[in-house]
Amino acid sequence: MKIKAYDGKIADWKGDAVAVVLQQEEKCENIGKLSEVIKELISRKDFTGKKGNFVKAPIMGGAVKNLYLTGAGKKEGKNLSATVRSVAAELVRKIKNDNCKDLLIYIPSIASAKDKRLFSAVGEGVELGAYSFDKYKTKKEDEEKKRKLENISVSGADNESLQKGVVFARSQNYARDTANEPGNIIYPQTLADRAKKLADKFGFECEIWDEKRIIKEKMGCIYAVGAGSKNQPRFIHLIYRPAGVSRAGAAKAKKIAVIGKGLTFDSGGLDIKPAGYLRTMKGDKTGACNVLGIMHGIAELKPNVEIHGIIGAAENMPGGASFRPDDILTARNGKTIEIDNTDAEGRLILADALCYASELKPDVIIDMATLTGACAVALGSYRAGLFSNDDALAAEILSAAEACGENLWRLPAEDEKISESMKSPVADMVNCGNRYGGATFAAIFLQEFIGEIKKGKKIPWAHLDIAGVDFFKENTSVYSKGASAFGTRTCLEYVMKNFAG
Ligand code: BES
Ligand code: MN
Ligand code: ZN
Repeated sequence: MKIKAYDGKIADWKGDAVAVVLQQEEKCENIGKLSEVIKELISRKDFTGKKGNFVKAPIMGGAVKNLYLTGAGKKEGKNLSATVRSVAAELVRKIKNDNCKDLLIYIPSIASAKDKRLFSAVGEGVELGAYSFDKYKTKKEDEEKKRKLENISVSGADNESLQKGVVFARSQNYARDTANEPGNIIYPQTLADRAKKLADKFGFECEIWDEKRIIKEKMGCIYAVGAGSKNQPRFIHLIYRPAGVSRAGAAKAKKIAVIGKGLTFDSGGLDIKPAGYLRTMKGDKTGACNVLGIMHGIAELKPNVEIHGIIGAAENMPGGASFRPDDILTARNGKTIEIDNTDAEGRLILADALCYASELKPDVIIDMATLTGACAVALGSYRAGLFSNDDALAAEILSAAEACGENLWRLPAEDEKISESMKSPVADMVNCGNRYGGATFAAIFLQEFIGEIKKGKKIPWAHLDIAGVDFFKENTSVYSKGASAFGTRTCLEYVMKNFAG
């Protein structure tokens, strides 16, 4: 699908259909014959402009065959960019199987505003909304349609802003393509294969460690979590270096480490999950997929910052070689962990990955993980949790999330009482405590593995707990049902806003 700007008159446009997006009580004059139709639909109250209101009207005689009218809600509604992003996504979802090949989108409220961010939001919405994962359907839904949506023009936009949105959305869609794959297709080795393919395509450095190397490198936690599966664990490290920054680091750029939890399937292990909870656990690798999506975006956006994409990949399975409750593991930094519950495995994978990332001495560490059901209980299924040891970093991430329309809420990453409950009688800590405050417990646990930037000061770190938002059962705003790769755009936005030039 191609998307481009259109700066001619709406009445002169030739193509299959025009989609007009109007707010409540907004009129739409000066677009010729279509204005008459719109007026009629409004006076009949067929169209109200309320969010979600959608009308299709055939237009007889002339080039344009159909008019689509979509509501954008109240005029004074805040965050116009979130609105146009989701409206554009919903539009495309509806129209892509409607015998429409060439579509013009006209949003009067933004065509006049000339705000670049709004056009980027349309680009994002279009690209995200068009996404579907149907490669395993032997009969495609749109098979009998003659004309598939191919060209989208956006009235009043500029191509650069549209393209920025498209790049962001494609990065997320690239992540979704892997996140949607089931556990029999994507397991640690095949996840590593995808990372390698991406690295080869874009010229990233790429390091992949198998289970033997993982043991040798003292990643006792990643090894233990993955031990019970015939699909053994892998550790993946991709590096993007901006132009002019050599391996020896002659020119100095800032450095960011982005870490993803890559549980290609989380059965819970010996503490096996009940049936209903096993479903969608292929999505437990979303953090890792996001890392690949971010690297994909970075390759195109080329920011002036060194980026390390790091993934701990394992399959948590029950079996004769599984790690057990009561086991004591040793993480890469030497800390010992008593296993209380083998289903609290994500933090173990991240522990070794955070130690490794810290050794690279980055300026910032960001991790993304479908870490705790507790986070979903706290924030619902449409908002992810943010935890951080650094207020300035947290503020930047929240503002990036806002710009992307990805809902985040900061939760505490410290708590004296919860810290106390992490004590083990036999090791340095236990891997899980009681149910209450489970997301904060996990965040405090992770901090034990963040290195220091100087004596007494830890590396600024942000942790996105995306457990509630990794997978949508129904189309939700910009996300078509299935894997969302939530967090990919926020992270890209953070990087581009703070380290672009
Ligand atoms: N992968 C799960 C968390 C999760 C839950 C992700 C629901 C997506 C949807 C994680 O590994 C897990 O099992 N966490 C446990 C931790 C508990 C044993 C302390 C949980 O949240 O129940
Ligand atoms: Mn688990
Ligand atoms: Zn998990």
